[in-house]
Amino acid sequence: MTVRTQLSPGLPQVRADAELLRRVLVNLIDNAAEAMEGAAVREITLSTRLGTNGETLEIVLADSGHGIAPQDKDRLFLPHFSTRQRGTGLGLAIADRIVTEHHGTIRVEDNQPQGARFTIRLPAADLPAAVPPAAAAGAANGTASPGASQSASPAVPIPQSGAKG
Ligand SMILES: Nc1ncnc2c1ncn2[C@@H]1O[C@H](COP(=O)(O)OP(=O)(O)OP(=O)(O)O)[C@@H](O)[C@H]1O
Ligand SMILES: [Mg+2]
Repeated sequence: MTVRTQLSPGLPQVRADAELLRRVLVNLIDNAAEAMEGAAVREITLSTRLGTNGETLEIVLADSGHGIAPQDKDRLFLPHFSTRQRGTGLGLAIADRIVTEHHGTIRVEDNQPQGARFTIRLPAADLPAAVPPAAAAGAANGTASPGASQSASPAVPIPQSGAKG
């Protein structure tokens, strides 16, 4: 399996829980690896870039796997949706929830020439909406979301070069 990274330099920071974002990427990479099992070309590309409006940061994970049937695209992020024999169907539901808690979005589309491509959009840190509500709620009522290790999340710089998986 080949992992390529295309990381834009000089991106704005995002205010995020690094552990939770790591879990999102791990879930996506797990899925990509599973979708590429037995494929002739097994390639993952992870890219970061500035959103077109200049106020969001985009993380794109593309794979060369079997891709996603059109009728499945709408249900992919629902809890317990899985096409795998031993899948729980929770990986993408958790990823979606974490990204949403960070005021971001996660979308899927077809990759070219084959496979799936997931795009995460997160607001840049200096915008008012950039504080994850999970952290705020956890601080207020004492219940943090699973895996949240801090009541206030630091701004996490996105690595700009050299990261290889
Ligand atoms: N990169 C991908 N390429 C093709 N299909 C994918 C990809 N990622 C997810 N899917 C589809 O979305 C479904 C749901 O993914 P999700 O991660 O939520 O659950 P799962 O991988 O089946 O199980 P779990 O993550 O709990 O082990 C998968 O079963 C698969 O059909
Ligand atoms: Mg999964």
